[in-house]
Amino acid sequence: MLEGLTIGRHSASFPVIQGGMGVRISGHRLAGHVALNGGIGIIAAAGLALGSENYDGKNFFAADQQALKDELRKAYDIAPDGVIGVNCMVAVSNYDDMVTAACEGGAKVIICGAGLPMNLPGLTVDFPEVALVPIVSSVKAAELIARKWHKAYNRLPDAVVVEDPDTAGGHLGEKMEKIGSGDYDQYGTVRGVKNYFKEKWNLQIPIIAAGGIWDREDLQYALANGADGVQMGTRFVVTEECDADDAFKQAYLSCTKDDIGLIMSPAGLPGRAIKKNIEQVRQRDIDLDVYCPSACLKKCAYKSDRERFCIVHALERSRLGDLDTGLIFCGTNAWKADRISTVKEVLKTFFLNRNVP
Ligand SMILES: Cc1cc2nc3c(=O)[nH]c(=O)nc-3n(C[C@H](O)[C@H](O)[C@H](O)COP(=O)(O)O)c2cc1C
Repeated sequence: MLEGLTIGRHSASFPVIQGGMGVRISGHRLAGHVALNGGIGIIAAAGLALGSENYDGKNFFAADQQALKDELRKAYDIAPDGVIGVNCMVAVSNYDDMVTAACEGGAKVIICGAGLPMNLPGLTVDFPEVALVPIVSSVKAAELIARKWHKAYNRLPDAVVVEDPDTAGGHLGEKMEKIGSGDYDQYGTVRGVKNYFKEKWNLQIPIIAAGGIWDREDLQYALANGADGVQMGTRFVVTEECDADDAFKQAYLSCTKDDIGLIMSPAGLPGRAIKKNIEQVRQRDIDLDVYCPSACLKKCAYKSDRERFCIVHALERSRLGDLDTGLIFCGTNAWKADRISTVKEVLKTFFLNRNVP
C-alpha cells in the first residue's frame, strides 16, 4: 500500500510531495531535505526576489528568476539525486519567465496553482523531461486543462494535485462563500479526476490529495480513498529545515483552531491564514501609504485600487518573523503543531521507519 511515487520520468521513495509555499517558506533548505529523505521537494517560485542578494529594490523580475535558479542549485547541493521541483503560481506577472527559469535551473517537476496553467506545455516544450502537474479543486478544471493541453500541445498532465479548499493553506481555488459550506467532496474529486483520465484518455496518472494531511492516518485515509500520494504544506512548516524564521513556526505552535480562518487576497482569491492580525496587516500599508512596489501579480486589488494590502511584502514580513504585520498563511491543521521536528522525523512517523534514506 505505501509505495513510492512516479511522476513522469521521476520517482521518489515516498508518495509525499512537500507543497510549494510562497515567499521563501519552502526554499532550497526545505525542498532539498524533503528530496534527500525520499519525498518530492518543491521550491515556491513566488516572491523569491525578496530576500535575494541580487534584488536592489527595482529589478524584481530579473532578481526573481536568478533567485529561483540559485535556490534550485542549493537544493541540489543538499540532495544531488533527489526529486526537486518548482511551484509556479499562474496569477503572478512573471509566471511564464519563472516556468522557463525553473526548467533552465533543473526542476524535475513543475506544479502550477492559483489559476489554470493553460499554456504550461508550450512554455516547457524544450524540456520534455520536466513533469507537468496542475493543481485543481474540481473535475471540471482538470477537464479544461487536459482538453486544452491535448489540442494545443498534444500533451497531458503527468499528475494532478487535487487541493481541498476546506483545509489547505495559502490561496484557495474556490469561491469564498462556498468554502466550508459542506458542498465540496475532496475524495469524490480525487476519484473523479482519476476516472476522467482513465476513461477519456486511457491514462493512469498519479492523483495527489492536498489539504489537511497531518499524520499517518490522514495519509492512509487518502491512499485508501483513491489518492496515489499526498501534498503537505502546513506539516512541513514546523520542521527545522523549513526556510521561514523561527518566529513564523512559533506562530503555528501557539495558534488555536479559532485563530485560523479565511482572508480575501488582493489577487482576488480567498486564502487561509492565521487571521488574528489581519487588521494590522491591512493597516500597515495604509498607514505607511505603501506604493505597489513590484507589480508582482497580474491582477491585484492593491495595485489597481489600494484595496486590502500588498501581499508579497505581507508574506515576506511574516517569513522574516514580523508576526504583527506579516500575513501568516497556514492550513486548518496548524493548531495541531506542538513541536518543531525534522523532515526525517515527519517521514518516519508517516512510513514507520521504512528506510527513510
Ligand atoms: C505558508 C503557505 C504558503 C503557501 N504558498 C503556496 C504557493 O506559493 N503556491 C501554491 O500553489 N500553494 C501554496 N500553498 C499551498 C501548499 O502548497 C499546499 O498545497 C497546502 O498547504 C496543502 O495543505 P496543508 O497545508 O493542509 O498541508 C501554501 C501553503 C502554506 C501553508
